[in-house]
Order: sequence, then structure tokens, then C-alpha cells
Amino acid sequence: MLGFSQLGSESAWRIGNIKSIQDAAKRAGVQLMYENAEQKQEKQIKAIRSFIAYQVDVIAFSPIVEDGWDNVLGEAKQAGIPVLITDRRIKTADESLLVGFVGSDFQEEGRMAGRFLLQKMADASHVNIVEISGTVDSTPMRARGAGFREVLNGDERFEIMESVSGDFLRSKGKECMQGLLARHDNIDVLFSHNDSMTLGAIEAIEEAGLAPGKDIVIVTMDGEQAAIDLLKVGKINCVIEYTPLIGD
Ligand code: AHR
Repeated sequence: MLGFSQLGSESAWRIGNIKSIQDAAKRAGVQLMYENAEQKQEKQIKAIRSFIAYQVDVIAFSPIVEDGWDNVLGEAKQAGIPVLITDRRIKTADESLLVGFVGSDFQEEGRMAGRFLLQKMADASHVNIVEISGTVDSTPMRARGAGFREVLNGDERFEIMESVSGDFLRSKGKECMQGLLARHDNIDVLFSHNDSMTLGAIEAIEEAGLAPGKDIVIVTMDGEQAAIDLLKVGKINCVIEYTPLIGD
């Protein structure tokens, strides 16, 4: 039996990931005890404790943030239950608390976004960037932001004017973009940490009378169908793909 704690249902990526895990378990004949923590670390910790109490064979979870897992993972280790992390990582001094990780290299995703802008804006003399990041202290928020800066920091034409967190949610992406547009009238680029927030941000950009993809260059992450459709019509300029299909 596999106990799996999902962190939430915040994006189309996450919905695809939930389905991928459930389908993969079915295909493999693995009995799945599934819990969704609705974006709350306390609920994930509670779910992991319940898996330990049920004495499942393996625990897997996608950690909402990186810090604060040592105690509960120590309890799993004491109980002799191996723990895998998926999608996001944790920070721990004790690597023996985990048996493995399945997921992407978020820092490289951020670098890819930066490299795209180096090409796209090759002729620009100055580039004003705003960033809508994901959940504060989560791996994709930290690493995508770090990879992006790693590539662009060496080129002083690129200025990140403001960075705000939209928690990976479409509604917050829209709110964040409304605020950014109210505070800055010279935005050249939006770097958004996921497609859901980007879709919300595009609504805000259009409501402000601007043309997404033209007046503001848009770089986004994930590759959900709605974003690919907007890429095709030029409202998004770059989508960095991260597949949610990691269940198997
Ligand atoms: O951890 C992966 C990120 O979480 C995805 O990019 C985002 O859409 C999701 O909410």
C-alpha cells in the first residue's frame, strides 16, 4: 500500500499530476491511500502521520514548502517506512530520511526562461521585468527564480522591477498583475512561474487595454493546453514545459 499526500489542487498542472499518480497506481496494482492537503503544510504532516499509523509500505508526498519536515520524516524512518518525494524538494540535513525524488530541475527551467529573453530581447537597450512567483518558500518558487536571475544578472540591461507571489493560483495571478500594472507603466516582460497565474495575468493585461505577447512579452512555465493555445496565437511568447505525468 502506498500513502500519497498531494499538496493541493491549485493549478491545471496539479490536477494532471493527481490523475497521473492515481492512474499509475491502478496500472501497477498498487493500493493507494490518497490525501489532499489543500495547500496546508499541517495537513500534509497530519496525512503522513496517518500513513504511518496505517503502516503503509511506502509513503510519497509532494511537499508544499521545503522546510519543516524533519520531525515527521524521522517518525516514518523509526517506523521503517521508506519515503519518496515527488515534484518538489525538501531541505534537510539528514538525507537518510528519504529514499528518492521524482521530478524536474526547476533551476534549469528558470535558466531556460532567462535564455529565451536574452534572445528575444537581443536588440533592446533596457528591459523592465515583473515576476509573479509561485508559493513562497516552495522549490519551484526558489529555484525557478534563482535560475532566471543566474542567466540575466550578468546583463545589466535586464531589470527585475518587482517580484510578487501569486501562489500558483489563476485568481491571484490576475490580482498580482492588476497591482503591477497600477504601480508600473513601463513593463516590458512578465515572467510568471506557472500557466495558471499567467492566464489570470493575461486577463488583467487585456482589461488594461494592452496586448499580451506584444506590449508585454510573456514567459511562463508548465505547458498546460490553454497556455499552448495562447502561445499559438502570440499572446504568450514562451512556455517552458514541465510535465505533470510523473506518476509512473
Ligand atoms: O511544483 C510544480 C508547480 O506547482 C507547477 O509548476 C505549478 O503549476 C504547480 O502548482
